[in-house]
Amino acid sequence: MPSISVEEFLFWKKKQLSKGGDYYSFTVLLDCIGGIHTRDLNSLNINPDGNLYLKTNLDHLESLWNDHLLSSIPIQYICGSTFWRDLKLIVSDKVLIPRPETELIVDIVFKIFGKKSKKILFAELGTGSGAISIALALAYPLWDGVASDIDQNALEIASKNFLNSSKQTNLKFFCGNWWTPFENFKGRLDLAISNPPYIPKDTYEKLPNEVKNFEPKIALLGGEDGLKHIREIIQKAPFFLKEKGWLILENHFDQGEKVKQILIQNKFKFVEIVNDLSGVGRFTIGRYK
Ligand SMILES: C[S@@+](CC[C@H](N)C(=O)[O-])C[C@H]1O[C@@H](n2cnc3c(N)ncnc32)[C@H](O)[C@@H]1O
Repeated sequence: MPSISVEEFLFWKKKQLSKGGDYYSFTVLLDCIGGIHTRDLNSLNINPDGNLYLKTNLDHLESLWNDHLLSSIPIQYICGSTFWRDLKLIVSDKVLIPRPETELIVDIVFKIFGKKSKKILFAELGTGSGAISIALALAYPLWDGVASDIDQNALEIASKNFLNSSKQTNLKFFCGNWWTPFENFKGRLDLAISNPPYIPKDTYEKLPNEVKNFEPKIALLGGEDGLKHIREIIQKAPFFLKEKGWLILENHFDQGEKVKQILIQNKFKFVEIVNDLSGVGRFTIGRYK
């Protein structure tokens, strides 16, 4: 384990950041590859004495940072992993990098069901790296979860992430279009969650290169108005949810009102737009009848 003085490390860090890139990406690199937790990173500035132990040397970290700056490949893909809530997840360009704002979905579930809940069956549609389902399966060992994705490569990553995170067996993965793999669970789901592709076509074309050129299009593009998949998920939800079952959806920053209307048209009750930490109506939730 290479050890260097904190002073030397802070000098090196300043040099790397002066080359460009954003601070968040730099913290991901230090956390995933360097073994320095962001929380500890912040305290180094306050207390710059002493030594720091790294999981790799500064030259290696610097070469990964340079690759990121030169190629615009997201740092998470270069590292092959990311942190999401308290999980360390494998990611590759086959899956969307799970976003910090999506972490709130788990808190919405905590708010609805409490932290200690009786056994229920939940489904996630479009699981990607598995982040949401794995967080729920771990938080609620009594619950059973089923998670779908159209992309088999994504499901392989999600399965590995679940295996790496725990010895639990309360989450199963299925390949197929939205609800199709859940035929056997018709009318049995207490909760369904999805962060589907919801970016409208025009907006997709203007996404930063770092996103558009590297993250899977199938994970982002939501058709002409962004609502293609959200409509399909909501319209079929009544066949799969139990009476009073919950549906929680993530949507684009300006889609909350429209998603709310689609839910109401499909007989959902208690429909509510939930803000993310920046005050954006990022989630829309409802209860089926
Ligand atoms: C926005 S990503 C969300 C990934 C992950 N749940 C998260 O929050 O980070 C959407 C996911 O939906 C999947 N997807 C796209 N179209 C699908 C479809 N028709 N049926 C099932 N999954 C689909 C994509 O492969 C991708 O993994």
